[in-house]
Amino acid sequence: MSRKTVLVARRIFPDIVERLRAEFDVRTSDGDAPLAREALVAALQDCDGAFVTGTEPIDAALLDACPRLKAVCSMAVGYNNIDVPACTARGVLVTNAPGVLTETTADFGFALMMATARRITEGERFLRDGLWKHWSVDMMAGADVHGATLGILGMGRIGQAIARRGHAGFDMRIVYHNRSHLPAEEEAALKATRLSLDDLMRTADHLVVVTPYTPQTHHLVGAAQLALMKPTATLVNIARGGVVDDAALARALAEGTLAAAGLDVFEGEPAVHPGLLEIPNVVLTPHIASASIPTRRAMANLAVDNLLAALGVGPSPGLPPTPLNLEVLARPLRT
Ligand code: 8YV
Repeated sequence: MSRKTVLVARRIFPDIVERLRAEFDVRTSDGDAPLAREALVAALQDCDGAFVTGTEPIDAALLDACPRLKAVCSMAVGYNNIDVPACTARGVLVTNAPGVLTETTADFGFALMMATARRITEGERFLRDGLWKHWSVDMMAGADVHGATLGILGMGRIGQAIARRGHAGFDMRIVYHNRSHLPAEEEAALKATRLSLDDLMRTADHLVVVTPYTPQTHHLVGAAQLALMKPTATLVNIARGGVVDDAALARALAEGTLAAAGLDVFEGEPAVHPGLLEIPNVVLTPHIASASIPTRRAMANLAVDNLLAALGVGPSPGLPPTPLNLEVLARPLRT
């Protein structure tokens, strides 16, 4: 049987690429930046599988232009860049990378909340700019995290991991909004209360947004929702740009109807809304919530496990560990 061909669309760890080379002819992308669409389509010609990240848009037109493609395996957990129904309709298997980044991403979400509430990066800028002349009673004074009410929008794996940190480590009261209730035992363990979205906005001292980005969650946190928040509250977004209306958020922060925000994701990133760059009360990071070396390696290895299995090789041929459209496997993949 001839070897299949796969594209690794972004630079990843060389030893993890070697796992693919053992089984496939592997094409790699030389640069570190995402491939432009035409280059991605060209690189995927004659490829049976693709290793992608959260930055390659995979849509119906691309699938039609790459008729040999049978499996798209992403090292990201979020898959708003992939049109899964279009893949399913064409018999293309899609996998993502849930689970392996939960705790690392929760650590970062919590760190961003603390940095935001306690004005850590603002204080550092103040110091570096030579503005620290003497102690003063309210210099860089922020909000407490311990004992405060932690609001979680999107109570999936990562939301629950953040809630555990708040409940067990910081004596926080946990409130959340999610389509479904947590299982009763989980809710009891976290002493968590499910609220409507509006009540969550009104109640939270610190709100962490962790819900997936879908057409239904576009601008779920917009001007109207922000207006419900306490003026002393903070908001952290580690989900996706687009769940929060960044323009409305910049206005709320500038006008002081919200105390501060911590953002790891942005609408149209790597561009950042200019209004957010102008104000001091926002902590900005470049989409790095899952960026620890062990976790990034685990994410990439899981995508490779999926790609091997999807294309019928490796230790569990035909059984990708984390498929998004398992139904595709019930019928033959594209030939
Ligand atoms: C990734 C993420 O860094 O997994 C996700 O959904 O947002 C991040 O962990 C990024 O998407 C990888 O491309």
